[in-house]
Amino acid sequence: MSRKGLWRILAVLALAMLVLAGCDSSKILPSDALNVLDPKGTAGEKSLDLIYFSIAIMLVVFAIVMAIFIYVLVKFRKREGVTLDRSKYKDHNTVLEIIWTVLPIAALVALAIPTVKYTFDLAEVPKGDDVLVVEVVGHQYWWEFKYPKQGFKTAQELHIPVGKKVHFKITGTDVLHAFWVPALGGKMDVIPGRVNELTLDAKKAGLYHGKCAELCGASHALMDFKVVAEEQADFDKWLAKMSAPPAPVVTAKEKQGEEIFNSSCIKCHAGMDPKRQGPDLTKFGNRQSIAGVLKYDEKNLKAWLKDPKSIKPGTKMEKFDFLNDQELDALTQYLMNRK
Ligand code: CUA
Repeated sequence: MSRKGLWRILAVLALAMLVLAGCDSSKILPSDALNVLDPKGTAGEKSLDLIYFSIAIMLVVFAIVMAIFIYVLVKFRKREGVTLDRSKYKDHNTVLEIIWTVLPIAALVALAIPTVKYTFDLAEVPKGDDVLVVEVVGHQYWWEFKYPKQGFKTAQELHIPVGKKVHFKITGTDVLHAFWVPALGGKMDVIPGRVNELTLDAKKAGLYHGKCAELCGASHALMDFKVVAEEQADFDKWLAKMSAPPAPVVTAKEKQGEEIFNSSCIKCHAGMDPKRQGPDLTKFGNRQSIAGVLKYDEKNLKAWLKDPKSIKPGTKMEKFDFLNDQELDALTQYLMNRK
């Protein structure tokens, strides 16, 4: 390839990087919500420590190898009128052999010690009344969060108090998924029929991005959730809101929406049909997103109800295109008032 051609390709690649770096599927979240390099919890900090430590080891190895490489390249380069007398050099050196066997072993052991220590630290099950237990269930393609002690469940939005250990009991209902909150650390396999445990905490209040980290089907990349880490007082308020009975249905429009909900939505969204189980919508009005990926507003809710598969391919949610505009309006209003 000509030099000009190469430059053109490089220019296109650089431009593509710039353009694609601006892509953000979830406009609902701050940009640092998905950053492993800016951890907001103990587990994330420990993982980052290990990342930096292994990079440091790699840099030292790289520097040594490059120094030897450049030395050999210069010293033994082909020179006019000079022929290399190979008989002057030995083909074996026991000291060197020992050094380049022992050094990599030492480097790996140095990396293994903190890795094993952190792994055991993070696997420790926290005890005491102070620990919040959350049961996580992964479904194609949404997340269910149960608060067993508080006696309610929700979906797509996990609320946790800042500075407290949160112990997750994680399982799934269909295929393999993986529970991952990059800014907080961790990542745990979601396996149907098995409960995996993970402990995380958030040191700073904020909205963090959760992802499914195991290819699980057509909408794997859209299997997102939010983690709302908030100060204890705000968390307690949220708990009270979630535990209170739902707001009363007042207007005629809402009543119409309730009727539609009770005749069509309820069989999946109240857990009556375990095969087609959908998220619990009792407190849907408190959410910050729709289906985990859309901004929470009326327009998006209607778009989701009309054709969910166009937004999340493979979702088990049925189309609600049999509703006319007025009925859709009523259902939307009913759902958005479930607080
Ligand atoms: Cu669930 Cu990927």
